[in-house]
Amino acid sequence: MSHRKAEHVKVVLGRDVEGHYRYWNDIQLVHRALPELDFSEIDPSIELLGHRLSAPLVITGMTGGFPDAAKINGNLARAAAEVGVAMGVGSERAAVLKGQYPESYACVARYPVPLKFANIGAPQLIPQAADDRVVGPELVRSAMDLIHADVLAIHLNFLQEMVQPEGDRRARGCLERIGELAGTFPVLVKETGAGISREVAESLRDRKVRALDVSGTGGTSFAAVEHYRALEQGAEREARLGRTFWDWGIPSPVSVIEVVGVGLPVIASGGVRSGLDVARALALGAVAAGTAGGVLRAAASSYEETRRELETLVHELKVAMFLTGSRTVAELQRAPYVITGETRPWLNR
Ligand SMILES: Cc1cc2nc3c(=O)[nH]c(=O)nc-3n(C[C@H](O)[C@H](O)[C@H](O)COP(=O)(O)O)c2cc1C
Repeated sequence: MSHRKAEHVKVVLGRDVEGHYRYWNDIQLVHRALPELDFSEIDPSIELLGHRLSAPLVITGMTGGFPDAAKINGNLARAAAEVGVAMGVGSERAAVLKGQYPESYACVARYPVPLKFANIGAPQLIPQAADDRVVGPELVRSAMDLIHADVLAIHLNFLQEMVQPEGDRRARGCLERIGELAGTFPVLVKETGAGISREVAESLRDRKVRALDVSGTGGTSFAAVEHYRALEQGAEREARLGRTFWDWGIPSPVSVIEVVGVGLPVIASGGVRSGLDVARALALGAVAAGTAGGVLRAAASSYEETRRELETLVHELKVAMFLTGSRTVAELQRAPYVITGETRPWLNR
């Protein structure tokens, strides 16, 4: 299990696993020829789940559980603390259930990251086999303590599980378990690249979940990641499944539009690759945008590159704010936009 996380990182760094269509390009912000403000006035800071961030940016959970992950998480945490943005770690299943490489997560706690997300998968909340140990409140507490987390992120990844040769196949009961945990811990629910519909968002809101991260289609495709892993394992059926479902899911901008209506803070992720994409997400009503695949290469390289990438994202966001005449994120959330391309027909569903 520990090297599954290592293989994911290797595949994402070595192969093209992006969705085939860039849905964020379909969100066109309307240029304001007379911004009537100075660039120096622009303030992209926000408050998210009670924490102040210098910019509306989240590094969404990716890794941990193998030795090299300590370097990636350390670079991400140091840069996130320096730039003042939020971050999550990858699934802590290996650490809390098997005690594998806790330091590869715990290194995050050494830096003053303004908002940190622990991470557990929804499939681990229910028994997958008769003798399975599930993740309950006690193990969640350990997962949070390990990184001094502020919030627990529970990820939904059933597309990935279906394409994984060794994937979990049980999903009945996850919603109730999420509801129980949300009664004890501040919980954010996130997808992992296939998006969240309004119907699912409403059921999560009704169970007292505090925030949602849509993580929709159009960025890292976990069907694609598992396609390459299955190829290497000679698992032909799963390799074909990964190809068939490569672009499965709800496009990220569509998921944001559907989910902002339910009244929870929404993080927009899935294919966010520039500060302009961040601006587009905020114009649709998200409170922050998240990226994983967009920062992994830098994080695997060095702290300096990671910091440069985050600073570039923030600078691009500020340029988009200037060119739409938005001094604050609240103003950007009211900026006019047009929706084009393959994204538009989704709005009629
Ligand atoms: C290498 C890698 C590992 C990931 N592992 C996790 C994980 O353990 N838990 C989780 O919630 N999401 C995980 N994700 C999903 C991301 O948090 C994010 O939802 C998804 O990649 C879409 O964002 P992106 O297009 O910016 O990559 C992982 C992503 C990558 C690239």
